[in-house]
Amino acid sequence: MYTIKTIEWRDDKVVMLDQRLLPLEEVYVTYDDYLSVAKAIEHMVIRGAPAIGVAAAMGVALGALGLSVKTFDEFYKKIEAICERLAKTRPTAVNLFWALERMKRVMIENKNLPIPALQQCLKEEAIRMHHEDIEINRMIGRNGAILLKDGMRVLTHCNAGALATAGFGTALGVIYAAQEEEKRIHVYVDETRPWLQGARLTTWELQKHGVETTLICDNMAASLMAKKEIDCVIVGADRIAANGDVVNKIGTYSVAVLAKYHNIPFYVAAPTSTMDPKIKTGAEIPIEERNAKEVTHIKEQQIAPSHIAVKNPAFDCTPHTLIHAIISEKGIAKAPFETALKNWK
Ligand code: MRU
Repeated sequence: MYTIKTIEWRDDKVVMLDQRLLPLEEVYVTYDDYLSVAKAIEHMVIRGAPAIGVAAAMGVALGALGLSVKTFDEFYKKIEAICERLAKTRPTAVNLFWALERMKRVMIENKNLPIPALQQCLKEEAIRMHHEDIEINRMIGRNGAILLKDGMRVLTHCNAGALATAGFGTALGVIYAAQEEEKRIHVYVDETRPWLQGARLTTWELQKHGVETTLICDNMAASLMAKKEIDCVIVGADRIAANGDVVNKIGTYSVAVLAKYHNIPFYVAAPTSTMDPKIKTGAEIPIEERNAKEVTHIKEQQIAPSHIAVKNPAFDCTPHTLIHAIISEKGIAKAPFETALKNWK
C-alpha cells in the first residue's frame, strides 16, 4: 500500500509535508524549534485533528531538547510555557490539548530523572504517539470496514485520511481497510469550501491509494443522494462530546441533514483521543473562526467584492441524532452513544 509521510521525527528534527501546496507540489519542510512547529499548525502546513496532536507532541519534544536548564523546576516552567504557546494554535480539535496533557504527564512522572534523560523521555513519548496513531487508525479501519460492502459508493467531507493523521487515516482508513479486504469502493469527495481539503487533499491521497474517486462541489451532494448514487457517508471528527455530538469540518452538519432526509447511514470515524468526555454537548465546543480571505479569495485570486462582510467558521456541530455509528479503535458505537463513549475513555 502507498505510504504518505505526513509528519516524521528525523535526526531530532520534525519533517512535515506542506499541505498548503498539495496537490500541485510535494514539499517537505524541516523544523528544529517548537515555535516554528506552532506556526506550522497555525498556518495549516499540517492539519487534521490527530496530525495536529502528533505535531504538538513533537513540538514539545523539540522545545525540551532545546532547553539548557539545571533543575526540574526550571524545566517544568519552560515546558509549561511551550505547551501554552502550542495550545494557542488551534482551538477546536481536542487531540491538540490531549497530546499536550500527555507530554506534561510524562514530564511529571519522570521528574526524578536527570534533565538529559527527561529530554529523551519526552522525545520518545512524541515518537510513540506517532506510531500509536498509525496503529489506532489501522484498528479504526478494520472495525469500520465491516460497514462497507463490495461496490458501495461512499461520500466523504474534508480530509480525514493519512494527511490528517500520522498515517492511514480515520474515515479514509475505513475505506483503505475495505479495499485491503478486496471490496471495491467508489468515493465521492466534497470539495469542502473554503480551504478545499476535499478537492486538494482527499482526492490526491485517494488517487495515490488507487481508490476510484469522484470530486463534487459541496452543493452537489443532495442531488446525488436524491438519485440514489450515495450508499453511505463517512467523515472524521475534531471533537466528540459525551452525548455523541460531533464537531467536524464546516459543512459536515449539512451532509448529515441530507443523509438523514435520504435515509443514508452517516458514520463518524475517530480515535478515542478525539473524544472529550468533559464536554457534555457539542454546543460547548469552541469553533475556530478563520480569516475572511479564505472565503473572499481562492489562493491569491479575489472572487468577492472588497470589504464584504464574511463569516468563516471552520467547523460545525452534527447532533448525535443524525449519526448512525461512531467507529473508534475500540469498536463501533450506536445510539445512545453516552455509555459506549464512557466505556471507551
Ligand atoms: O481545518 P482542518 O483541515 O484541520 O480540519 C480537519 C477536519 O475537520 C477533519 O475532518 C478532522 O480533523 C478529522 S481528521 C482525521
